[in-house]
Amino acid sequence: MTQPLPSYQEKSAAVKERFAELYQRPLELELNGLSKTFTKPDGSPVQALLDIDLKIHRRELIAVLGASGCGKSTLIRIIAGLETPTTGEALLQGESIDGPCSQRGMVFQSYTLFPWLTVLRNVMFGLEATGHSPVTAESEARQWIELVGLKKFENAYPDQLSGGMKQRVAIARALANEPRVLLMDEPFGALDAHTRADMQSYLLQIWRNVDVTILFVTHDLDEAIYLADRILVLSPNPGQVQEFIENPVPRPRSPEQFSSPEFLATKEHVENLIHPPEARSEPVNLPILKLTQQDDRVE
Ligand SMILES: Nc1ncnc2c1ncn2[C@@H]1O[C@H](COP(=O)(O)OP(=O)(O)O)[C@@H](O)[C@H]1O
Ligand SMILES: [Mg+2]
Repeated sequence: MTQPLPSYQEKSAAVKERFAELYQRPLELELNGLSKTFTKPDGSPVQALLDIDLKIHRRELIAVLGASGCGKSTLIRIIAGLETPTTGEALLQGESIDGPCSQRGMVFQSYTLFPWLTVLRNVMFGLEATGHSPVTAESEARQWIELVGLKKFENAYPDQLSGGMKQRVAIARALANEPRVLLMDEPFGALDAHTRADMQSYLLQIWRNVDVTILFVTHDLDEAIYLADRILVLSPNPGQVQEFIENPVPRPRSPEQFSSPEFLATKEHVENLIHPPEARSEPVNLPILKLTQQDDRVE
């Protein structure tokens, strides 16, 4: 007989200890009563986010999950300083966020490297833009490129790199300015499954070695549970905090954990939050005529 899954809330002593330690750390990001309303071209309002309260601690890795349109990108863009909240506030180390700044680095799903610059020049670009001399920018860029394992590709151009490598350069470029917070909006969404798995493990290695807090938007539940300390689940229309889950899967993480009881229990819980069983649609039976001559069944 199969054992029922444990509750996603059951944690080992080591995981409980980790969360106790994590909550002792200084606050890095704080959102207080944050709401955002957009106006559609026809003048009608869209409430993208409603009354978001969040406290995120130094060096946490937070995954943000939720159905399409529930405000994940809006949340990231507000923290990046690319959008302003309609009401409420977003604070970084206690200071109000107003406008983009090198303290917050971003990595997007689409490849954003400059195609006419080499890997080295792409990473140097942000450093020079924030006032580093070319000599310092070059030596710092080299260190970041080495950290993401692309030393041999310093002089390559983006179109000579695979998708995963381009995203590693984008991560190096975002980290080179030593941001407090790294904002990642579905960064691995365009990669094939194998590269994506490699990137997840790279990201964990990088995060272990760098003093940075990460907010990582994804709609892949396995990715969220594999990476995160806590998982923020947003509900749609308007985007609200549905649940902020303490991930019970112990660190260090490894792919074998995908089938561990804690992992499966968390996944089942999150799946039920995002796609409640009562809202799941029946499989569609298409009214397709049989076009094969033979009576051979394929299933
Ligand atoms: N600039 C904008 N103008 C009007 N509506 C927007 C704008 N940006 C986002 N929205 C709307 O806000 C909601 C949340 O969007 P978004 O944050 O992109 O969601 P997600 O990233 O979770 O898919 C959606 O309904 C979207 O159509
Ligand atoms: Mg989005």
